[in-house]
Amino acid sequence: MTGAERTVVVHPSKQSLSDAAAARFVASVLDAQAARGVAEVALTGGSMGSAIFASLLQTPGRSAVDWSQVYVWWGDERYLPAGDPERNDTQNDDAGLTRLGLDGGTVFRVRGPDASESAEASAAAYGTTIREFGRGEFDVVLLGVGPDGHVASLFPHHPAQRIADEVAVAVHDSPKPPPDRVSLTFDCLNRTREVWFLVAGADKADAVAAALAPGADRWDVPASGVRGSVATRWLLDQDAAANIG
Ligand code: 6PG
Repeated sequence: MTGAERTVVVHPSKQSLSDAAAARFVASVLDAQAARGVAEVALTGGSMGSAIFASLLQTPGRSAVDWSQVYVWWGDERYLPAGDPERNDTQNDDAGLTRLGLDGGTVFRVRGPDASESAEASAAAYGTTIREFGRGEFDVVLLGVGPDGHVASLFPHHPAQRIADEVAVAVHDSPKPPPDRVSLTFDCLNRTREVWFLVAGADKADAVAAALAPGADRWDVPASGVRGSVATRWLLDQDAAANIG
């Protein structure tokens, strides 16, 4: 990767990481709207994916954002019915997404088995929606990282990683439950201005170090395979940063 910035910011606690990411998110959305009218963001599940919404609700600058001009996507979704408490979007909603003042028409959710015949059909439909409504690049993609180095629902040594030239892919036999998921592909995730990894906890320290190591291979450490065209930001707490060389 040339020309793009890669930064690592270490925060003293998960709470300060979440608060700082929320403040940074508000600033980035404002910048994107000033430059391009609509801000396009992709969200993540997991604990950090939800923590940022609790922080956002406390971030004073959020009132400056025109939330009706924010397009919301997800990097991945668990293939479960709408409203299922295990879905990433449901968890984001419950954490505060629904209280930000978004326009429901610009929140683009992945179809579950209640609204699609299969994860493959859901992935195809999501890809079509992104091509139809998206600008062709995200402004900000938020990503958690699993202890195994997975990102979105792209897992180490999983064949779904290999899907190229598609926007989204069906994932089966996920090592993290539930087994069926829909994920954006590397190709799609990499069409992003700023990629932010939000990672907290000692159980992530090895995965973070492996992803940041020179020559890291995304087949082994998927998190090493997503980068922003403008910046890639690793936003960590001290525990997650403990093993960086
Ligand atoms: C999922 C999530 C997943 C998550 C990471 C990190 O669907 O399971 O999208 O990719 O982001 O596992 O999760 P934590 O932040 O909870 O550690």
